[in-house]
Amino acid sequence: MFTIERFIEQCRAAIAAADAERAVEELVAEAVSDPESVVRALRDPERAGFEVLHRGPDLTVLDFAWAPWMTFKPHNHSMWSVVGIFSGREDSVFWRRTGDTIEARGAHSLGVGDVTRLGRDVIHSVVNPIGKMTRAIHVYGGDFFAPPRPRSEWDPETLAERPWDLDHTRRLFAEADARAGVVPTR
Ligand SMILES: [Fe+2]
Repeated sequence: MFTIERFIEQCRAAIAAADAERAVEELVAEAVSDPESVVRALRDPERAGFEVLHRGPDLTVLDFAWAPWMTFKPHNHSMWSVVGIFSGREDSVFWRRTGDTIEARGAHSLGVGDVTRLGRDVIHSVVNPIGKMTRAIHVYGGDFFAPPRPRSEWDPETLAERPWDLDHTRRLFAEADARAGVVPTR
């Protein structure tokens, strides 16, 4: 059965391993293979956003809730990450730098039980394509809130690069909630 305490303990041990990313990916895959167990262990979110389950210099674990039909600006992380879905669906468009801007280079779609690993320099934008919240565990190989190198985001309309703005990010979740008239999801 999934518990937050044990999951974090296992992730902390995993990041000390030779291939930390693979080890964390296996832990996240094991967790979301029993999505009901993860749902039971975590809060039932009334709002979209992310809850910090663990924050340290080399590991951050977030409980993510995307609002219904929410779209989220292109951004990078400046650290590797692993995403596992335990409710709903999370689509990503992947981008690459070209000159002063970025261009789309691919996409993937993750459903319940799916896990993906994102490299340190990946740029992606995210869509929740369904009319209920999407829930995911996001694990980052560093301090998500204090990245070792400055993080960027890109204006969704002009694709102009700018410094990552956490306050703007929080507002996007609130606006997406308001547009969707969010009610708690299960
Ligand atoms: Fe991301």
